[in-house]
Order: sequence, then C-alpha cells, then structure tokens
Amino acid sequence: MKKISIFDAEPGMILAKPVTVLHTTGRELMQTGHMLQKRHIKKLNQWGIEYIYIETYDSEDPIDFVFSDSIRLLAKQTYEDAIVSLTRLSKLLLSKGECDISEAGKTVSQIMDVIAMEHGLLSLLSKLKETEEYIYQHCVDVSVVSLILARAMDYTRDELQIIGTAALLHDIGLVRYKRKFWDNSMIQHVPTSIRKHPSMSREVAKKIDEVEPRILDIVAQHHEYMDGSGYPAGIKGEAIDELARIVCISEVYCHMVSPLDTAHSINPHDAVGVILDPRFNRFDPRVLRAFIANMAIYPAGTFVQMNNFVRGVVLSSNVDKPMRPKVLVLYDDESKPVKPFPVDLSDPKYADWYIEKVIPGQDITRTLGKLLRM
Ligand SMILES: [Fe+2]
Ligand SMILES: [Fe+2]
Repeated sequence: MKKISIFDAEPGMILAKPVTVLHTTGRELMQTGHMLQKRHIKKLNQWGIEYIYIETYDSEDPIDFVFSDSIRLLAKQTYEDAIVSLTRLSKLLLSKGECDISEAGKTVSQIMDVIAMEHGLLSLLSKLKETEEYIYQHCVDVSVVSLILARAMDYTRDELQIIGTAALLHDIGLVRYKRKFWDNSMIQHVPTSIRKHPSMSREVAKKIDEVEPRILDIVAQHHEYMDGSGYPAGIKGEAIDELARIVCISEVYCHMVSPLDTAHSINPHDAVGVILDPRFNRFDPRVLRAFIANMAIYPAGTFVQMNNFVRGVVLSSNVDKPMRPKVLVLYDDESKPVKPFPVDLSDPKYADWYIEKVIPGQDITRTLGKLLRM
C-alpha cells in the first residue's frame, strides 16, 4: 500500500483504502479494491481529495489472498505449541533424565491435523525466526517437512507418529552440547565434534519412557546419506531406515530455507535445485520424488515473474505439476497493478506461460513475520 498525491493517480491503480466524501446530496464512496479510471480521478479532483492510498502488493498484503484467517491462526498456534512442548520435553530430559513419550506424540498429532488441512502454510510458518532457541524451532521444522513427505508416501498413521517424533528429537543432543560449549555457527560448518551429534541425540532420546527403538534408529541415522558419505556411521543404501532417509532430506532442506543466520537463507525454489543437484547421490530417489511433488517449489506467497513479464503471487501448488502452480496476477507486463485475477498454470489455456524467476526480497518471510505479530 502506498499513499500518493492525487496528481500521481493513474488509470488502473487500485484503491487500498476507501475514499469517502460528504456533501449536500449525501455520501459518495469509492470502495477499497476499486480500480481507478480517468473519470474517477477527475471526480476525486473535483471532490478536493489531495491524497489516496493505492495497492502496491509489494510486501505485506499477499498472504491475505492466500490463506483464511482461521487456518492461519490454527497453524500459528500449532507451530508455537510444538516449540513450547519440545522445549519442555528437552528440559525435562536434561534436568531429570526422564520424560514421557506421550508429550511428543501429542505434538506430532496436532501437526498432522494441520497438515491434513493445509500443509503449505505450516511449512511456510517454519521459516520464521522468532524463537531464541534455534534448535527447537529447527526440530519442529524438520518434523513438519518429514510428516508432509511421509504422509504423501502413504506411510501408516503409526509410522507417521514414529517419523514425526523422531524428527522432533533428531537434534536434541545438540541442546545438551550447547549447555557446555555450543556455538550456534557450528550447525552450519559441521566440525568433527558435531558429527557425533546424531549419536548424542540417540543417547538423550533413549531416556524417554517407552520410546520405540525405531525412533532411536532414525535419530541416529538422520545424517546418513545413500552413497555412504554421511555421518556418524557412514552406512549406505538399504542399511539406512526408510524413515531416516525422509528426515535426512527434510533436514537439509530446512537448513537451507531456514538457517540460523537468515542472511544465508535461500528461497525454497533454489533449495530444491541444490537438493536435486546431480553431482550428489545422497538421497533416496523415492523420497526425492515425493519431495519434488509435495514441497512446493514455488510455495504459496512467493512472488514470481512470468516469461511474459506479468507478475503475481503464488496461491497454491499443483501436486502433479509442481512447476506450474496457481498464481494471483497482480501486475501487468508493464509493471502496472491490475485488478488481481487468478491463473492456474496447469490449465492448458496457459500452456505458453511459465515462471521465469522468483522476485527476490519479496518472499513471504517478512509477510509472515508481520502476521505472527498480530
Ligand atoms: Fe542433525
Ligand atoms: Fe537437524
């Protein structure tokens, strides 16, 4: 939204705030969303209006087009609850050396319920940097992504509980590390000592009452790669638990889109490119397929430019055609705002439209930051 002088008003601009005028004949109004034409601008001048507010769609509004209020609030609440409960669980483990698995199980169920409704939003919320404890937030992020993938791969409800819980706990050993000499930058550079953290996480998680052995295996294997180049054991292929392969890819993705230092974050589109880099043979092809189909390459809220210079915000992805999401067009090919209209790129009607680039600096992170402070 931008405040402009009436002398700068141009046909095609859209009012971001209503204009109301009272005069002898009653009240005249131009509503929010009204697209100005020459005659309207003339009228505004006659009315003596000096300034108007017009839509720019450039930073904070698009989320309003994308998700309903209720689902946004539910996702926000679930995400925050997950961090609180993981923090509580880990503190219990570290201070008393014991806790109950049901705590993690409840958190995983809540996350699954939101994913069933709208997985796009929860995975986007995870990009926020509002908690001081990066590790807890990161664990919740990895749990969300792992559950989205495992659900898409048709694992059973029990297996989803296992992978969701294992992902929540996967870096819990780093929390203990931090108590002594943890430096947050280590999470990116992986020094030798940090390469032991999956085993440390396993040791901590082992203290949870009634924890399933498979959960511990997944925790211990979350940095093992299919080609044997991972750590700590360097095991490869079939030796790695199928669910650990899912946590592994989710973990790499989350570190790229949501690193500790936001200056190093890359957008989901580029992160997918890195994960698919043919020079690496780290990931299970079956998980990669689920990843490409379900982790929106262009998540809802991403600003994109088409090959015909039209620009807009992604509304939702098409599972079968991840490169061709639904987009809400906001600007025409001359960068002029238009009355927003949706375009489904998977529709043959738009066969010659394709996304040329993600518009940097306008990703949804800032938008969601504002949203969560509501
Ligand atoms: Fe890790
Ligand atoms: Fe991790």
